[in-house]
Amino acid sequence: MDDETENPLTKGLERLPVHPTTLVIFGCTGDLSKRKLLPALYNLAHEGALPERFELIGVSRREKGHDDFAAEADEAIRAHSRREVDDKVLAALLADVKYVPGVFSDPSVYADLKGQLEAFDEAAGQPLNRCFYLSTAPEFFPVIVQQLGDAGLTAGPSEAAEVRVVIEKPFGTTLAEAKQLNRDVLAQLDESQVFRIDHYLGKETVQNMLAFRFANSLFEPLFNRNYIDNVQITASEDLGIGTRAGYYDHAGALRDLAQNHMLQLLTLLCMEPPVDFSADEVRGEKVKVLHAISPPEADAVLRAQYTEGTSGGEDVPGYLQEADVPADSVTETYAALRLHVDNWRWAGVPFYLRTGKRLARKVTEIAVTMKPVPHLAFGEAGSVGVQPNQLILTMQPNEGVSISLGAKIPGNSMRIRPVNMEFLYGTAFMSQSPEAYERLIMDAMRGDATLFTRNDEVEAQWRIMDPVVQMWSDNRRVKPATYAAGSQGPAEADDLLLSDHVWRAI
Ligand code: BG6
Repeated sequence: MDDETENPLTKGLERLPVHPTTLVIFGCTGDLSKRKLLPALYNLAHEGALPERFELIGVSRREKGHDDFAAEADEAIRAHSRREVDDKVLAALLADVKYVPGVFSDPSVYADLKGQLEAFDEAAGQPLNRCFYLSTAPEFFPVIVQQLGDAGLTAGPSEAAEVRVVIEKPFGTTLAEAKQLNRDVLAQLDESQVFRIDHYLGKETVQNMLAFRFANSLFEPLFNRNYIDNVQITASEDLGIGTRAGYYDHAGALRDLAQNHMLQLLTLLCMEPPVDFSADEVRGEKVKVLHAISPPEADAVLRAQYTEGTSGGEDVPGYLQEADVPADSVTETYAALRLHVDNWRWAGVPFYLRTGKRLARKVTEIAVTMKPVPHLAFGEAGSVGVQPNQLILTMQPNEGVSISLGAKIPGNSMRIRPVNMEFLYGTAFMSQSPEAYERLIMDAMRGDATLFTRNDEVEAQWRIMDPVVQMWSDNRRVKPATYAAGSQGPAEADDLLLSDHVWRAI
């Protein structure tokens, strides 16, 4: 069952109305638009979640007509939608889509766009909200925002309509770039109009961290340095870099995943309870966590590259043999870090982060390991299987939460081993989780920025990671460690662990 209306457990959940909107996708024929954005729009349409009046305009470089774009969108949605497509719903969604061709720096594109937006307003008999989604290469972000400003498109057609701009990642590739981009963007727009995407925040399981922490009195008293021994955050992928060498070889694992997605997971895990769930209260608490983290020292970071190996039973090439990767590249496909959150709650607890491509499997999880019990009264044999409790928050796959407990093994003697208590999203709610982009597109259209990164937040993230980026780029002659494709990662990662800690198996 995947329809919310049929699910008794989601009955009655509030669905806030969204003002009629025209969504404009810059870079509408790109990979992200085809794989994620257009399918997300279809699924929102399928659920009846889009505003009553919803219009779509695609902008990209290639010359083509409205119908060509509609046909491409149709094909992309059929190929990538998480739901089987209902022909009627899809036809209705794409019935009136428009396409504006042109180079993003060309003012005439924005004149055409303005004409089209006004035509939609006129047909609707009211000014529609305008939501501009920048799904382009990052060098165009400031260009498009400037052009929108010059064309008078950063303010709504009337007081009654809002303008919002969604900006994809990466938001800069260094702290200096992120600051400059913030300056460029905020020269044209108010911060309340800007929605910087980190798609991890759109994942149900990531938002569940807030529910888990702040809707249960069971865990919060334990969530601090007195009871927690260490935390491991893993975002591993089994896939390689595919056809993305052009982007990836300049980015690397640290910038691609650790600087943004992993730091977001860390802040949600560590933040203080917000006063309420408004955008600024939540983001204010997250930023405080980032301020408490110092950039890691050289001995608390590791970079590595995959070499050939096997993935899914197939032989796969090493990173340096991938298409379009320079033979002498030192870009990391794996990054591991040890961080500390130096505040009252978390001082002294190590946070281990690791991410990589071509590891044994895809898993995103947070493992919180509690301190051991202070005294074991079970004798030597009985105590062998006693392990510290672990709380595992699994973002994907097998989304859910599991707690390991020590339990007596049935029998005549007192022997103990860990067992798991599990909550799984799929079975508990009898529904498929929506894709992150569905939630994020809706929130942007609604003007709710809670799940988007604020200007100071993105800069605080860069402040932590920028010195590592700089250190690695200064050491370009030092070869990264290596790990075989399909493995657990480089052996050197163990050196980051303090005391008797061990990495969880991927
Ligand atoms: C993207 C990265 O931001 O996140 C990709 O650019 C990565 O390299 C992807 O594969 C992972 O996202 P998810 O949702 O599949 O975990």
